[in-house]
Formats: sequence, C-alpha cells, structure tokens
Amino acid sequence: MANSDGYNFAAWTSFIEASQIRALLKYNVDYYFAGGKPGIIPTDIFANIMAELSERYKEDPKLALEDFNYGPTGGQTWFLKTLAKRMHDVRKIPIDCEEQYDCVSVTNGSQQAIYAILDTMIDPGDVIITPSPSYLGFLVPAVKLGGRIITVPTDLDGIIPEYVEKAIHVSKMKFGKTPDIVYVVPDSDNPKGTTVPMKRRKALFDICENHNILLVEDSAYAEIQFKKNPPPIKTLDKENRRIAYLGTTSKEAAVLRVGYSVMPPNLREQVLKDKGYLDLCTSTLIQRILDIYYREYIDVAMKDIVPKYKERYEAMAKAMDESFPAGKRTDPTGGFFIWWESEKKDFDSSKFMKEVAMPNQVLYVPGGPFYPITGYALTDNGNDLKPSVPQPNTMRLGFCYATPEVISEGIARLGNLLSEHL
Ligand SMILES: Cc1ncc(COP(=O)(O)O)c(C=O)c1O
Repeated sequence: MANSDGYNFAAWTSFIEASQIRALLKYNVDYYFAGGKPGIIPTDIFANIMAELSERYKEDPKLALEDFNYGPTGGQTWFLKTLAKRMHDVRKIPIDCEEQYDCVSVTNGSQQAIYAILDTMIDPGDVIITPSPSYLGFLVPAVKLGGRIITVPTDLDGIIPEYVEKAIHVSKMKFGKTPDIVYVVPDSDNPKGTTVPMKRRKALFDICENHNILLVEDSAYAEIQFKKNPPPIKTLDKENRRIAYLGTTSKEAAVLRVGYSVMPPNLREQVLKDKGYLDLCTSTLIQRILDIYYREYIDVAMKDIVPKYKERYEAMAKAMDESFPAGKRTDPTGGFFIWWESEKKDFDSSKFMKEVAMPNQVLYVPGGPFYPITGYALTDNGNDLKPSVPQPNTMRLGFCYATPEVISEGIARLGNLLSEHL
C-alpha cells in the first residue's frame, strides 16, 4: 500500500488499527474503568528492593556490569529458577525447579509471548479457536498474521468445551484443517471475568490432546483471586507437550514488562528464536528486581493487594446492581473486569461512550474490540459457521484502577446515564 510519501507499507497496515484500549489510556477522566491498568502496586517494596540493589552494585561492580548488560534471550537462569519454584509451589505446575527450570522463559510482557507463539504457529489460513468474546491482544495479532479465527460461545463458566469440539469438526469440514491453537484465559477471563471450572479444564485438555492442538493457557490473573480456583490446566500436562502456559508480572508485581511462560521444548525453541530477533533479550536489571520480589516479598504483597481488589470489585458490583438498567453482568471471583450486556440488542455502547459517558468523565471499554475484526463464529447449533460480528450492546468495566469510593460514584453516574438513555 503506497502512502503519501511514495513508499509502500505492508498490507496489514491497511486493515489493522491501533489497539482501542491503548488509545483510551490517553484520556484523563474522573472515572477510569477502561484499561486493565493496576491501581494497586507495592511501590514501597520496589523502592526498598532498588535501594538494596543500589548498595549491592556499589559494593560489587562485577555484578553491576552483568546486570546492566545483555543476557540470554529466554531469561537469566537464577530468575527462571525462582519463577519455576513459584509456579511449582503455588500453582502446582509439574516442573522440577532444579532440573527443568529451562522450560521456563521470560518475555517482554506476556504480550510478547502471545505474539511470538502466534508468529511461530500461524501461517495465513491456519485456524485458531477463541472464546467469544476474547482478549483483543490475542485476537488482533492472530488476524494480522492471517489466522482464521473461529469464536465459540461462552457462558458464566467461560468457554464451553462442547463447542470447541464442534468448532474443530467444522474447521475440518469447511477448511480441511485441524485448528492449530485453542486460546483460553481460565482464571477471571479478560474481558468477561469468568472462571473455567475443573470439569471444563479437563475437557479442554482432553480435546486438545485428542486432536493434537496446542492449548494456550493465558493465566494473567491467576494470582488476583478472591477465592481458591481450580488448578491450572497446565497441571494436567505432565509431559509438557500440549500447553503453553503464560503468566505475567504485570498484575501481581508491577508493570515492568516481564511475562513468564512454560512451553513445550520444541515450541519454546522457536518462540525464543523469534524473540531473539524481536528484542534480543529482556532487561537483566528488571529481572534482578523481580527475582528479589518473587523470592522475598510476593506473599506479603499479595496478602495486602488481593483483598483491596476484592473491595473494588464489590463496590463496582453493588453500584451496578443499584443503578444499571435492565441487562446482565458477570460475577467474577478475581481479576480486573466485569462484563455487562444491555437487554436492548440495538444499544451501541461505543457511540454511547463517545457521546454520553466521556463528556460526563466516565471511561469504559465498549465490547466491540473483543470480537475479531474478521473471522467466524459457530452457529447456535454448532454445526456451521457465520461471520463473527461484535455485540455492540456490551461493555467491559475495569475495577482495577479506581478506589472503591471513586468506583461507587462513577458507576452510579454511568448507571444513571444509561437508565436515562435506555
Ligand atoms: C488476558 C491477558 N493476557 C495478556 C496480557 C498482557 O499482559 P502483559 O504483556 O502486561 O504481561 C493482558 C493484559 O492486560 C491480559 O489481560
């Protein structure tokens, strides 16, 4: 595609737009319920870690030289061991921390792992199964790389395995292809906030095993849980060959742009090859800071942080129940988001945000971006495909950033505006 200066951009630039959530970050409003921006970060702990490190570096310039330097593409051994131990001890992921830490990798945010996995797995026309709706940071790169997305219905327990099975069947019939990836966020999903129960986790694993499909388990919100969740699907993958398990420090530590993952060895090798050309490596200094946090502070921090997010969730749920017009909301047991669907099918939450909510200092994410810009949805009987269309009468409300007081006020304001309008 030629631009006004005469040189040619790649074809994707004409159909991929900048992330709508990123675009919303620039607005400064009184009531911010848009991006998944953590509002509670243990900054005092990080300040202490940095002070401690500053002293250590003065005493040990050799360590400083290493920590301010390039490192291995997949992460520093000492940090991979720490992460392996955390995933083993807390999430029960079957890795031997001393022998198998090298199946753990560090990326520049889990977003980079998502991108590199898609880049590694997807040729144009390959098929990917996602829940409907789904995290747009997965959907958009998948479309950019030419993936054919089939979205499957979800309910209050998240993705429905029977439909995944049907989608695989339809993909084989229509496209002559077995899908390459099933993507799922089992713990307090983005955007719906739903959690997949154990029975469904097991069914998803079995389906992917039976059809030889890579299951991408994105566990971004695994540590932000208000009650005990079922164990990760990855716990079923005893031989580490079926599931790419993704975690992130963004929600449970700080947004230092570090994600971590456990991938089957052959996939890991390709993903790290890709990462090597994307950014060479992740900052060693940042890994050092996080290593200390994960070894010494995370439990204390989470004890403080998780109940605070719960308070925010409760404030939002209560204010929605008191002020919103007829519709349905989800009831998350963790994570950052509540999903709301108006009873009125013709309600356009995107238009409403621009024309009514934003002028009244309220920001949320309209539901549209959580559906693929091109792709397919399973028909209701699960036997055929139709074009995927966004559900315009939906919105994602984040309770992560604002305080409970601000949430109560802002949601009441939004609820009253919606009630006047609908
Ligand atoms: C489900 C999900 N996956 C991945 C990410 C990316 O996280 P990060 O790149 O900060 O690790 C996010 C961010 O909000 C998310 O919600």
